[in-house]
Amino acid sequence: IKKIAVLTSGGDSPGMNAAIRSVVRTCAYHNVECVAVYRGYQGMIEGDFKPMNARSVNNIINRGGTILKSARSNDFRTPEGRKKAYEHLKEQGIDAFVVIGGDGSFTGAMIFSEEFGFPVMGIPGTIDNDIYGTSFTLGYDTALNTVVEAIDKIRDTAISHNRLFFVEVMGRDAGHIALNTGVGAGAEEILIPEENLGLERLLESLERSRLSGKSSSIVVVAEGDKIGKSVFELKEYVEQNHPDYDVRVTVLGHIQRGGRPTCFDRVLASRMGVKAVESLIEGKSNYMVGFTEDKIMLTPLEKAVKGKSEIDRELLRVSDIMTT
Ligand code: F6P
Repeated sequence: IKKIAVLTSGGDSPGMNAAIRSVVRTCAYHNVECVAVYRGYQGMIEGDFKPMNARSVNNIINRGGTILKSARSNDFRTPEGRKKAYEHLKEQGIDAFVVIGGDGSFTGAMIFSEEFGFPVMGIPGTIDNDIYGTSFTLGYDTALNTVVEAIDKIRDTAISHNRLFFVEVMGRDAGHIALNTGVGAGAEEILIPEENLGLERLLESLERSRLSGKSSSIVVVAEGDKIGKSVFELKEYVEQNHPDYDVRVTVLGHIQRGGRPTCFDRVLASRMGVKAVESLIEGKSNYMVGFTEDKIMLTPLEKAVKGKSEIDRELLRVSDIMTT
């Protein structure tokens, strides 16, 4: 392997820059050339490349977003698109690429690698933490901290006005952010895509805590919660059944995706970048770098894409106990 490309793909997440930096510097350390691809797979198809050296990634470890920009490329889903991308990589003399992204990005890498026998490595970058083969994805820890900080602020108003707040957090298909921030911020209830709590139980639980002396409550709701109601519909439902409740809604949205990465995400990114490049140099391909049980390890991309990252049942129980 003489030349490695690096790209970020799919939704951005804090820590992606630290991972780019790590890939670039590990290449420099091993005297392997490194090329950046801008705008994810779309940039690969359009030949948007830039040579990188150790100094190209100065002062980015602390920055959110991705200096390489990111995109969700529909063209890369087509054989013609992927062929163009392959031709550009060959023109540039690139032997392998590292893609930092989520499962959609890994599926693209896998198909590409099978079609052209091209070596690829994945680094999991998404705030959702919904990838099999790693206990933590890049950006997840930062997002958790952003959400908890926001809910702490909302709690001030909830307490001052005796209000019930529904706080919507990200996670279309995964409840990791909701569950962990719900426990971390002391939420009354947590609604996630993996479990249907049911509207009745939600009302019962709110009523129970009111009778036990609580005068305000926070309910954390994942975007894709199983009850299937938006936070605004939940507000209406509760108001209809309990006109005496003073209900408000906050949708945290994309503030969860931005901001300075936490130390945890920076260190994780640094470790993952080293492993990705060194694994390619060792001749490995088609893997995702993960972090499980305090170890950096590889999982075949196929498993990472097909496997399911389970919700932590033990934590669900902890959450139930905490709302007593
Ligand atoms: O996958 C990351 C994520 O932030 C999800 O939690 C969310 O559902 C989605 O991306 C939002 O995507 P977009 O930024 O394209 O609206």
